[in-house]
Amino acid sequence: MMSNALSQDVVERIAVVQGDITQQQVDAIVNAANESLLGGGGVDGAIHRAAGPQLKQHNRTLGGCKTGLARSTPAFDLEKRGIRRIIHTVGPVWSDGDEDAPLGSCRDDVLLASCYHQCLELSEAEGLATVAFPAISTGVYGFPKHRAAKIAISHVLGWLAGHQLPQKVIFCCFSQEDADIYRQAIDTRQKWMSSRRQR
Ligand code: APR
Repeated sequence: MMSNALSQDVVERIAVVQGDITQQQVDAIVNAANESLLGGGGVDGAIHRAAGPQLKQHNRTLGGCKTGLARSTPAFDLEKRGIRRIIHTVGPVWSDGDEDAPLGSCRDDVLLASCYHQCLELSEAEGLATVAFPAISTGVYGFPKHRAAKIAISHVLGWLAGHQLPQKVIFCCFSQEDADIYRQAIDTRQKWMSSRRQR
């Protein structure tokens, strides 16, 4: 998973917040869904509760979503909070691989990166300027948090380096622990990139 040049303006287009993704002031929120798209627990449950029953009714017409892919829907009751779209993506269930293996070396890594890529593609296609992501797959699906954060940040920064939209990506972490993991991962990456530039 090669990284693109990490210029300062790209880093300024990401932010880490700790909170509830349904409360974010963004154009779109990403849902960590399951393949049925009919709701569940975790962030999926929170988004369906906040969007209201129309979301499930709408999603029944979609025929599901495969792992690694994404589907965009209206935000229904969340529209009154200014959220225009919900982008549902289905992350991989961590298959207990070696969490210290090189990034990108296992299928779960590739599927998780695909979730971020698909959501970013849909955001660009729909002209969405600000998008909030939860920590996809790191709850019920058991993906190691540090590994998932590195994949998320690497892929999002790589995308932003080559695209105008979305203008801003928020990593919305439910816990302070998760927010600290993301901030640490971004800081580590910035240090690594600046050391490369000095060579
Ligand atoms: N806002 C932001 N993040 C949240 C919220 C919320 N309201 N609620 C939970 N989270 C965080 C969790 O703390 C975790 O860091 O979202 C991350 C993803 O965890 P899950 O919601 O469990 O999602 P995931 O691990 O991808 O598992 C998906 O769980 O809820 C079911 O239907 C869903 O079957 C699917 C599976």
